[in-house]
Amino acid sequence: MGKMNKTQYDIKDPTLTEAGKLRIEWAYREMPVVRLIRERFTKEKPLTDIRISACLHITTETANLALTLKEGGADIILCASNPLSTQDDVAAALLEYGIPVNAIKGEDEETYYKHINTALDNKPQLTVDDGADLVTTLHTKRSDLIKNVIGGTEETTTGVIRLRSLEKAGRLKYPIIAVNDAQTKYLFDNRYGTGQSTIDGITRATNILWAGKRVVVCGYGWCGHGIALRAKGLGSQVIITEVEPVRALEAVMDGYQVMPLIEAARVGNIFITVAGDKNVIDKAHLEVMKDGAILANSGHFNVEINIPALESLTHSQRRIRPFVDEYTLDNDRHLYLLGEGRLINLAAAEGHPASVMDMSFANQALCLEYMAKNKNKLEPRVYPVPEEIDKQVARLKLNSMGINIDSLTPEQKEYLTSWEEGT
Ligand SMILES: NC(=O)c1ccc[n+]([C@@H]2O[C@H](COP(=O)([O-])OP(=O)(O)OC[C@H]3O[C@@H](n4cnc5c(N)ncnc54)[C@H](O)[C@@H]3O)[C@@H](O)[C@H]2O)c1
Repeated sequence: MGKMNKTQYDIKDPTLTEAGKLRIEWAYREMPVVRLIRERFTKEKPLTDIRISACLHITTETANLALTLKEGGADIILCASNPLSTQDDVAAALLEYGIPVNAIKGEDEETYYKHINTALDNKPQLTVDDGADLVTTLHTKRSDLIKNVIGGTEETTTGVIRLRSLEKAGRLKYPIIAVNDAQTKYLFDNRYGTGQSTIDGITRATNILWAGKRVVVCGYGWCGHGIALRAKGLGSQVIITEVEPVRALEAVMDGYQVMPLIEAARVGNIFITVAGDKNVIDKAHLEVMKDGAILANSGHFNVEINIPALESLTHSQRRIRPFVDEYTLDNDRHLYLLGEGRLINLAAAEGHPASVMDMSFANQALCLEYMAKNKNKLEPRVYPVPEEIDKQVARLKLNSMGINIDSLTPEQKEYLTSWEEGT
């Protein structure tokens, strides 16, 4: 990128640099797999002069990924993937490290898209996205830039769903790897990362006691699994709502109550949406909730709780604590919406712990290297993470934890690939 000019970045406060640097350094201690990749990238420079536009939550872990890609030779520019998830100190520190960032915590929608457009002005050859807003902008308003693009990666479930729709409509213009769908991503990041950090976000915002609360988790996907598990561990009575029968059945056998949301709405104290769906909590549910019910979302977009419906039932509203909005309804019940219905783990806490992002971002770095190596060889499709990358990330993570495992003997290898031996 050479010398950065002022049109390439937009952050809140450059005086936060030192705090950001310390937090980035702290997170790096918990990212041994990314560290190994960075060491190799520093020597091999697999991304030399490749322009990368990355739309990610601007957190300490993202900073460590960005620094790794830069060490690999990339010319990288960042923008936020959510208006409320930016850590302003991290944005400041990244600027000092020579990486332009366009992200301000609490930015409005217009600024959010302005930031995406600035990231695209760098004419990316690789895109990194979390939720597919950058890729969608590129495919619609900035399609003139697509000719430069070799490929991309997508971090989250909602983004992968959007990209698959784009592919199905025959409109996806370049190959994208669904990082979310690596086993070393969703089994850990979505489950243990979202599980812990969602509880963390709600606790920091409200300081509630979880023990004895009725917690309603809407959506029993990998994120839902993690949140339910952690809430149960803290002594909550967990109720799951689902639309998929197999997942609902799994929730029953995992020991949770399962019921339609309209029934759960009458008894729940805390409602957490992680369905990746729209109006999951709708007007009819809001109408029957108990006084004092807390509403939080940890799914990608702020559409899971029908906020316009909540507003339509409300006669007064106030911010009672940071990230806690009290809605007083016409019948004098109070409902509390956290973090404006945006991902609560990033709005009110720090997002996933670094140790789990280590695996997600190791996949990101290795998939970007793979894309660069396979330039012009891939079709414009949504690809899975190559199995060897997924396995490599698991192996490196185990090594970093000092854990060894067994390997197949030649006899077992043969047995597992044959059909002759039976009873
Ligand atoms: N907060 C974070 O940091 C974070 C991290 C990872 C993923 N996410 C996001 O969380 C969301 C969920 O991700 P996931 O990986 O668990 O997805 P998933 O597809 O594994 O699970 C979603 C579940 O919700 C269910 N569902 C859909 N509509 C529903 C409805 N109306 N009522 C009840 N259940 C419904 C689906 O049947 C599915 O089982 C996505 O938006 C994803 O992008 C957020």
